[in-house]
Amino acid sequence: MPTTSTLSLARVRDELLALPQPFRRGAVHGVVERLQPAAGELDPYLNFSSSGYTRTRFYGGPAYEILVLCWRAGQASPIHDHAASICSMAVVQGTCSSEVFRLRDEWNGHGPRAGEVATLRTAGSSTCSTGQVLTVEGSDIHRISNRDSRGGDLVTIHFYLPPILTMRCFDEDSGLCSVNEPKTLMPRL
Ligand SMILES: [Fe+2]
Repeated sequence: MPTTSTLSLARVRDELLALPQPFRRGAVHGVVERLQPAAGELDPYLNFSSSGYTRTRFYGGPAYEILVLCWRAGQASPIHDHAASICSMAVVQGTCSSEVFRLRDEWNGHGPRAGEVATLRTAGSSTCSTGQVLTVEGSDIHRISNRDSRGGDLVTIHFYLPPILTMRCFDEDSGLCSVNEPKTLMPRL
């Protein structure tokens, strides 16, 4: 009989480690859906910046990593894919907007490389509110943003299985592909 009890972030970290590997998207999503951070658990990881969204490491290991992302209103990620990883994202404060993109052309299975130009088309958008979880995988391309019209903050927790060391990003106007190493902050423990 499946359990539906909530889990602190530390418990989610441990439950993920107990999953059979290779990880399966549905199993990861099912664990992350039970996340209910404990009171004060996220405080050392909350870093808001006027110059862009921030990523702060909650956990980093060989199989997966957990990052806490903080977004002021109006801040957005680049358009990016997810390497060979599953990415499950839980909204713990505010409302998150997600725009999905598709590559218009075939790329012989490898996808565009840095310096190549892709043609992107929009393929939908959605929002996730506090308590909701969005899971994407591998070549899924999207952009995450905080579009709160009342200026509210957004906090999301991202689980990358395995960790993503570099992100393939796309310029919205030109379609130029680049490979970037996202900046990761350490917590104030
Ligand atoms: Fe993403």
